[in-house]
Amino acid sequence: MATHRIGILTGGGDAPGLNAVIRAVVKYAVGKLHWQVIGIEDSFNGMLDAPRRLHDLTPRSCQGLLHRGGTILGTTNKGDPFAMPDGSGGHTDRSGELAAAIRAEGLEGLIVIGGDGTQAIGLRLMDTHGIPVVGVPKTIDNDLSATDLTFGFISAVETATDALDRLHTTAESHDRVMLLEVMGRDAGWIALWAGVAGGADCIVIPEIPYDADRFAAKIKERRMRGRHFTIIVVAEGAAPKDGNTLPSEVPHGIGTLHTASAAHTLAKLLTERVDVDVRTTVLGHLQRGGGPVAFDRVLATEFGVRAVELINAGQWGDMVRLNKGKVTSVPIRDAVAEYRTVEENHPLLAVARSVGIEFGG
Ligand code: F6P
Repeated sequence: MATHRIGILTGGGDAPGLNAVIRAVVKYAVGKLHWQVIGIEDSFNGMLDAPRRLHDLTPRSCQGLLHRGGTILGTTNKGDPFAMPDGSGGHTDRSGELAAAIRAEGLEGLIVIGGDGTQAIGLRLMDTHGIPVVGVPKTIDNDLSATDLTFGFISAVETATDALDRLHTTAESHDRVMLLEVMGRDAGWIALWAGVAGGADCIVIPEIPYDADRFAAKIKERRMRGRHFTIIVVAEGAAPKDGNTLPSEVPHGIGTLHTASAAHTLAKLLTERVDVDVRTTVLGHLQRGGGPVAFDRVLATEFGVRAVELINAGQWGDMVRLNKGKVTSVPIRDAVAEYRTVEENHPLLAVARSVGIEFGG
């Protein structure tokens, strides 16, 4: 059987289950097939630094990873080799240098674990410099259209649902309106799933620009029925119909300070309409941190093993995916072409509306 020497990296925001993918790849490729797997630190960056930041991964060095959150390889969303920050506000293309380093290390190709941005970089590396890649999709937002689910999503939904359960008891005790902001800049999947699972009264998602009057009416209608508290889940990218949100980012030193949020905007609009005691919780990175739930551990393991099988079969250029319950693959080119948001006719949206959840539009 042919032996291989491949690189593996994680790019973009982390997600519960990244380590489980790395573990599965190493256990199968190194432990069973006797290949060499080289871990590259911080997305593509570890290959560009001098000295290179690389690790020879073995089943022994990957022990205890299945349940561990984050990524042992580190990650970054500032690691596009085609547009690397040059330190003086501009960008420089270091992709040629990267390809040369990959070849110098004797790597036949890369397993690239990341979201659409990282997959697009991998594809460009293959198209422009002939570096073979196999993709493993990752995002807690579950917004990659090519796969039914990404690992990390269900873990994030569990965390958000647990937060809703906790908010419920205190909201009920104090007759308050509780707003929980969850992640989802462009897609409202976490808000939708957690909202249905956590029994929210209102769900606010980026795909449905809202009319705050409808949420105010919902709060009043609940009060009339003797329900003096209301639970609202807000995706971070949600905005009112008029688009007027409170400023959410302020330039700060070399980065950005995250200030008011989508939930704060809605809280302000609600207090202008109803005499209510409103509290806001921004769940933030708690959704990304921590270990994966059992489902995500299984999916991540299946994805890792399938990625190795793709390389074994010479199917470079493909990305693994879950399709109608089966782990298969799709060309990365097709996978990054489409983004999945909550479309108006999605069945879960209809189910949520059927049980009385208000979406504001
Ligand atoms: O894309 C995943 C995601 O979790 C988004 O939902 C969120 O807007 C973003 O990452 C946050 O990124 P950062 O960790 O850079 O703040």
